[in-house]
Amino acid sequence: MRTPFVVGNWKLNKTIADALALVTELKNQLGAVKGVAVGVAPVATALHSVAKRLEGSPIATCAQNCHWEASGAWTGELSAPLLADAGVTWVIVGHSERRQFFGDTNEGVGKKAKAVLAAGLGAIVCVGESLAERDGGNTLSVVDAQLAGGLAGVADHDAAKLAAKLVIAYEPVWAIGTGRTATPGQAQEVHAHIRKRLGERLGAAAADAIRIQYGGSVKASNAEALMSENDIDGALVGGASLEAADFIAIVKAARPS
Ligand code: PGA
Repeated sequence: MRTPFVVGNWKLNKTIADALALVTELKNQLGAVKGVAVGVAPVATALHSVAKRLEGSPIATCAQNCHWEASGAWTGELSAPLLADAGVTWVIVGHSERRQFFGDTNEGVGKKAKAVLAAGLGAIVCVGESLAERDGGNTLSVVDAQLAGGLAGVADHDAAKLAAKLVIAYEPVWAIGTGRTATPGQAQEVHAHIRKRLGERLGAAAADAIRIQYGGSVKASNAEALMSENDIDGALVGGASLEAADFIAIVKAARPS
């Protein structure tokens, strides 16, 4: 059985003080929650303080992006080894906002995922179609291309290792920050397709073990229905992860019943 993984993507929000206040509340209130893994992805300036505050807690500190090189003349970038040094254990790569506004390509996302895994961290590889792509009937082919690019550097086929270090997040772009969620059926259809592709690429055991998160306007009110689908193993939560009560309710909804 896959342990669901719920990650709060805080995007460009919260000072260090606000970040610490929120994780302290999460640490206190989620300490006893069993059967679900939890992570938070603060802005880069807060990563180290948050990781320190979360020491001794199962809540993972996640980064929102990284560069594919480890060091060198890359002004303004952060590398996977330096994120590890700051206490990060997971890195989100290929988020649609990175693809849309910062030029991330399928190939670049693959290089980032490879660098994250090489640094011993876990990679959350995001895929998802735009509204025009969905309306044009291209959802699965877009996701296929993103998945092929994102996993291009994954050499390991050991199911247990991959399950511990690789997560796919399906986030339809039209559902992100819009209040418009994919229906559980719409999401499940794409998740099942992704799992099939994972099987072809990495083998059946790995495909069975790798978690596939759903993201896009996940809230306490829709989380349970989404999480009850067979191939939805947690959530990547944006807006609703900024308040402790909302996020905690989503984490609780993701627990296997
Ligand atoms: P949202 O964002 O929950 O605010 O739609 C999700 C995401 O972008 O990861």
